[in-house]
Amino acid sequence: MVSFCKVLLQLQRTMAFFLPLVLPVLLIVFSSYILQLLRDSRSRLPPGPWPLPLLGNLHQLDHLPHRSLAHLAARHGPLMTLRLGAVLTVVASSPDMAREILRTHNADIAARSIGDSMRAGGHCENSVLCLPPRHKWRALRRLCTAELFSPQRLRATQALRQEKVVDLIGHVADHAARGASLDVGRSAHAAALGLLSRTMFSVDLDPAMAREVSDIVDEASVLAAGPNVSDFFPALAPADLQGVRRRMAKLVKRMYAIVDEQIKQREDSLASGEARKNDLLDVMLEKEGEVEEESTYDKSHNTIRGLFTDLFTGGETTSHTVECALAELLQSPDSMRRVQEELKNVIGTKPQIDETDISNLPYLQAVVKETLRLHPAVPLPPYEAGSTVEIQGYTIPKGAKVLINIWAINRCPNAWVEPDKFMPERFLGTETNFMGRDFHLIPFGAGRRICLGLPLAYRMVHLMLGSLLHRFRWTLPEGVEKDGVDMRERFGLALSLVVPLHAIAQEMH
Ligand code: HEM
Repeated sequence: MVSFCKVLLQLQRTMAFFLPLVLPVLLIVFSSYILQLLRDSRSRLPPGPWPLPLLGNLHQLDHLPHRSLAHLAARHGPLMTLRLGAVLTVVASSPDMAREILRTHNADIAARSIGDSMRAGGHCENSVLCLPPRHKWRALRRLCTAELFSPQRLRATQALRQEKVVDLIGHVADHAARGASLDVGRSAHAAALGLLSRTMFSVDLDPAMAREVSDIVDEASVLAAGPNVSDFFPALAPADLQGVRRRMAKLVKRMYAIVDEQIKQREDSLASGEARKNDLLDVMLEKEGEVEEESTYDKSHNTIRGLFTDLFTGGETTSHTVECALAELLQSPDSMRRVQEELKNVIGTKPQIDETDISNLPYLQAVVKETLRLHPAVPLPPYEAGSTVEIQGYTIPKGAKVLINIWAINRCPNAWVEPDKFMPERFLGTETNFMGRDFHLIPFGAGRRICLGLPLAYRMVHLMLGSLLHRFRWTLPEGVEKDGVDMRERFGLALSLVVPLHAIAQEMH
């Protein structure tokens, strides 16, 4: 009893000490909350859920924000306002709203909203993914489009991709011979990285380094898109309370060192009189100065390091698409039979599919479209309003974060029959495409910042998936067959599956 009284006394003293501090803080928080509500009610923001003081609507998001935002949009509308901590955020969740933002108002909403982690190691100043829509971003996009992704360049590099697909098939055949199950995503990712490194540097990364790049991309993807206090309360960003920027800086440093090694080897070989290889690295070494603003060009090769890091990151999206396509087909035997029949009829006994075959494979194309519709690898690209914009009577203020919920848009119930069902047939005989013109199917985004790698991704996904389906019969391991494939997603810069798809391949012929 005596000690209880002591504790009470102590508590009373502590309260007496802090009370004068706590009350003003509470008063400031409460009055700024009321002021903010008053300001919001006058500024014709799109509707949205009621925010809490300080937290805003953070409590309404879970670890899969594209899904929780779709859920909220069903209640509050296709253009919705949220407060994510201190950040005013507008979310577009319908094809019409995506068209308004990415076509009608794209000149005003073309900057990226950059997470604090992307500032690590100065990466966002070198990254085409992050740069504001000014000279350097435009120059980098122009250069990549001309030197990497133009139809001529893609035709010229076709053999490189073919070789990498042969390697992938060999890897799967080896598993098939042993009756071992295959980690589909990891194998496809290794193939995608191999292809990218050949296109950029004309060499394969050695297996240990390829594995390291794959791990770095994986970790960076989750770090960059995970919840970070610095992103919700920018005033706290310098403190980096969760250490996200610090951890990301290590990954950026390592990726830049890997690129540096390639730059050094190339500079040495050019200095010793070896011929140019005419790949992206040669072009970048020659034209880096044109991309930089003159005042900031210091020949440190930061632009090459940043660009190649971004391109490597893009590889993960193609392997995720291949993995999801196979997962859906394994659960949809009719679609699997149809796509394999089409391959048998069109490709026949030719040992390998090549990219010119894609246009003769409408069902395979429909499978890819349906996979990208249901499982867009980048479900929530973030933008920032460069100036105040009016959309259907609502205001998006300058500086607001704008999210395009591609995941929700691709499943819009007004645009699609049975939107959650895997039905490749829905695309047969239609012109609907994902090139950014049909706003109910925008897995690559649309407008000025539409995915830079789209032409390459298109070829890679069809080629890898078509080859895997043409050469092998696929089944699920016993336990998985019984319980069904676990399609739970893990959110990152690119989505991935929580439980990687394992499948068993058997040679077809
Ligand atoms: C199936 C595969 C892919 C999907 C679904 C995909 C999707 C996307 C999406 C949705 C965006 C954002 C667009 C927007 O803001 O409106 C994007 C941007 C981008 N993608 Fe892809 N992507 C894929 C493959 C690739 C590949 C293979 C590369 C490179 C080798 C790549 C490089 C980029 C870059 C550099 C950007 C940033 C463009 C900018 O901000 O200007 N992507 N992608």
